[in-house]
Amino acid sequence: MLSKWLNVEVEGCDLKDVDDQRQHSDLGAPCGIGTADLEDQPMAEFLKAGKADEIAPGQARRVEIGGKRLALFNVDGDFYALDDTCTHKGGPLSEGAIAGEQVTCPWHKAKFDIRTGEVLGPPARQGVARYSVRVTGTDIEVEV
Ligand code: FES
Repeated sequence: MLSKWLNVEVEGCDLKDVDDQRQHSDLGAPCGIGTADLEDQPMAEFLKAGKADEIAPGQARRVEIGGKRLALFNVDGDFYALDDTCTHKGGPLSEGAIAGEQVTCPWHKAKFDIRTGEVLGPPARQGVARYSVRVTGTDIEVEV
């Protein structure tokens, strides 16, 4: 059951357990959380993004899964997934130059950490979203 593993904290509510918060809210307490809030949360799942042998070390590839456009990177045999859209003006990070654990946007040269999505150099000011990646057999799977 979702509430058994989803441990959320609601501002203004000192109850840690979702079931307790739900009951608290149903009683009219000002938690601001209700059943509909929990049921509207999409469940993340791992989806196949490609084969491990399709992306050589130091390379990237654009993939579209789960309604998202992602850049999938191979850094020395470890795979990472970031949003493919640069936070500056939308450049495709999957087409950027890769140096170690850093990718440079092909449009205006903003730099991002491939492992974390953190911005490392301007003109972008915000990092990009990072997604968990696992390799199952020869399949690369991304949690979206
Ligand atoms: S679009 Fe990426 S640096 Fe401008």
